[in-house]
Amino acid sequence: MRKKIVAGNWKMNTSISKGEQLVVEIVEKSKGINGVLLIVAPPFTHLTKVADKLGNTRVALSAQNCAAETSGAYTGEVAASMIADAGAKYCILGHSERREYYGETDETLNKKLAQCFANNLIPIFCVGEKLAERESNHHFEVVKAQLSNTVFNLSEDDFGKVIIAYEPVWAIGTGKTATPDQAQEIHAFIRKTLAEKFGAKASDTPILYGGSCNPANAKSLFANEDVDGGLIGGASLKADDFITIAASF
Ligand code: PGA
Repeated sequence: MRKKIVAGNWKMNTSISKGEQLVVEIVEKSKGINGVLLIVAPPFTHLTKVADKLGNTRVALSAQNCAAETSGAYTGEVAASMIADAGAKYCILGHSERREYYGETDETLNKKLAQCFANNLIPIFCVGEKLAERESNHHFEVVKAQLSNTVFNLSEDDFGKVIIAYEPVWAIGTGKTATPDQAQEIHAFIRKTLAEKFGAKASDTPILYGGSCNPANAKSLFANEDVDGGLIGGASLKADDFITIAASF
């Protein structure tokens, strides 16, 4: 059976102390929830402190990005080895905000994927089309290209570890969610696309939905065969909302 996962992408939000409070609350409130892997992705500055609070609890730690290089003269960058050293096990890669505002290309993402695997970080790899691409019915080919230029280059072993997040850019932070049918349709397409390259292994790949997922719509999204959970932005900053989403399977 595929893992069910709910991951919180805090983006550039919370002070360190607020972040610590948030995870303490998440850990406490998640005690009754079984069978779902919970992940939090705070800013870099928070990682070690949040890791201390998480300790051996069931909530895992992720970064939101990592450097494409191993170490050295790359001012402002944070290496995957440092992220792992801080206690994280996961790393979000290729978020649309990184692609759009920081010019991340498939080439950069291939390097970042390699850095993650070299440092035992599991990538949560984001794909998703922009509004104009959806409206012109190009979303399938856009998402396919995002995968075939990156994830397709992984070894079978590494592919077996990766988590995919489908996040339509038009749904991120906009309050507009993909309908459950739209989500299922493209998640099934993503799985089929991955299966064309990696065969049966693709049936084990968690594919998360992201984009204005909230306590009111999570259940209908997660009820779909190929939606294995969510990558949650805004609603992950409130423990109650995050936990309600995690309890929506
Ligand atoms: P949102 O963000 O839930 O605030 O739309 C999702 C994301 O960008 O990961």
